[in-house]
Amino acid sequence: MFSVEFKPDIYWVGSMDYSMRSFHGYSTDRGSTYNAYLIIDDKITLIDTVKAPFCMEMFGRLRTIIDPAKIDYIVSNHVEPDHSGGIPFMMQHCPNAKIVTSDPNGLKGLTGRYGEHDYIAVKAGDTLSLGKRTLTFVPTPMLHWPDSMVTYCPEEELLFANDAFGQHLATTARFEDETDLHEVMHQAKKYYANILMP
Ligand SMILES: [Fe+2]
Repeated sequence: MFSVEFKPDIYWVGSMDYSMRSFHGYSTDRGSTYNAYLIIDDKITLIDTVKAPFCMEMFGRLRTIIDPAKIDYIVSNHVEPDHSGGIPFMMQHCPNAKIVTSDPNGLKGLTGRYGEHDYIAVKAGDTLSLGKRTLTFVPTPMLHWPDSMVTYCPEEELLFANDAFGQHLATTARFEDETDLHEVMHQAKKYYANILMP
């Protein structure tokens, strides 16, 4: 299981789904990628998870970096199960983790799907200190559901953009200059037209 350290102590730990062929009724001929990220700081933080069947794959990537039981926060930018499906499994293996989600819609959605956990509900501009780094939460309702938010880390100038700027594409390449940019933009256009524009 590879993980990708794209900034010091910040890793991509998601998974690729090569067989996914439809998403909310539109065709996804190149599959998709579920993005999850790990930040190692005084507080260890997982940003989003993956769709439930891919959870072991994400867990395997996490275990190449840390003991997942040490995770302090799981930031859930989006209730939809391609982002949050791994939460029940992770909560079994991360006994100390608090789940950070948007107030009120993320909290309502996650509680409805996964029941009571130790939630931190955040509003626009709320921050969470991880040690050297801070996370700031910004609601982005209807990109792509009412609960959606993005997470920004000012010290790294890094935006965890959730569904905004998304495209469905399964590939081991993690950076646009490693892949076919024409294909990336084609898939981004389809995603924008079908999911974000409405
Ligand atoms: Fe979504």
